[in-house]
Amino acid sequence: MRNIFDSHAHYDSEAFNDDRKELVSALPEQGVCGVINCASDIASSLTSLELADEFDFVYAACGVHPHEAAECKKGYLPVLKKLCNEEKCVAVGEIGLDYHYDFSPRDIQLQIFEQQIVLAKELDLPIIVHDREAHEDTLTLLKRYKPKGVVHCFSGSAEMAAEIVKLGMYIGLGGAVTFKNARKPLEVAACVPADRLVIETDCPYMTPVPFRGQRCDSSFIPYTARVIAGVRGVSEDEILDLTRKNANTLFGLEL
Ligand code: NI
Repeated sequence: MRNIFDSHAHYDSEAFNDDRKELVSALPEQGVCGVINCASDIASSLTSLELADEFDFVYAACGVHPHEAAECKKGYLPVLKKLCNEEKCVAVGEIGLDYHYDFSPRDIQLQIFEQQIVLAKELDLPIIVHDREAHEDTLTLLKRYKPKGVVHCFSGSAEMAAEIVKLGMYIGLGGAVTFKNARKPLEVAACVPADRLVIETDCPYMTPVPFRGQRCDSSFIPYTARVIAGVRGVSEDEILDLTRKNANTLFGLEL
């Protein structure tokens, strides 16, 4: 059964330089029906689109990550718009705020995030949001613009998840639900409405237990699904089926 839809992956990462083609082309045999490859700047938006061209089950999200916001060239927005108009670009992402690392000054992160939300609204595309220790500012912008989209690797409280859902958005959960200190992600996993949950790897990062320390890829998703299924009292396949359906709805696909 092919019911694994990885809503957030980074196969453009150098961690896959040695075996990218073999690894990605073998994913369908391991049950993967769809992958959204998320960019972090203009260069990786191009690479994501190239990957999407090469593999029919891979789609791209193009955008500038908060880490790269300060490096972003002045005229990036028209360039990004052109990339987002490519047929296999299905989202603007990943975009957002990261106040944990603060690699870019916060005022610039906010500016670049807001500009890309406006772009996504203009193009009628969903956004893929990165929010690390920036819950309040993220929520403020999402409430102001009400974009379609998903907050990926969701790290907020169950209360915040409820607010995101109320705005019409999706919650993305990944390997973090399997970690030892996963109290908050598990609370969220238990209470997100079934039609708003998507699943992801964020690979090569966020490898689920029991494979910590190894490079992650989309075939690891059943381990994450199993834990989510456990707290919801349903089967692993049920979680894979519903997250596949939700990702297709969110990104306008039929995979
Ligand atoms: Ni990511």
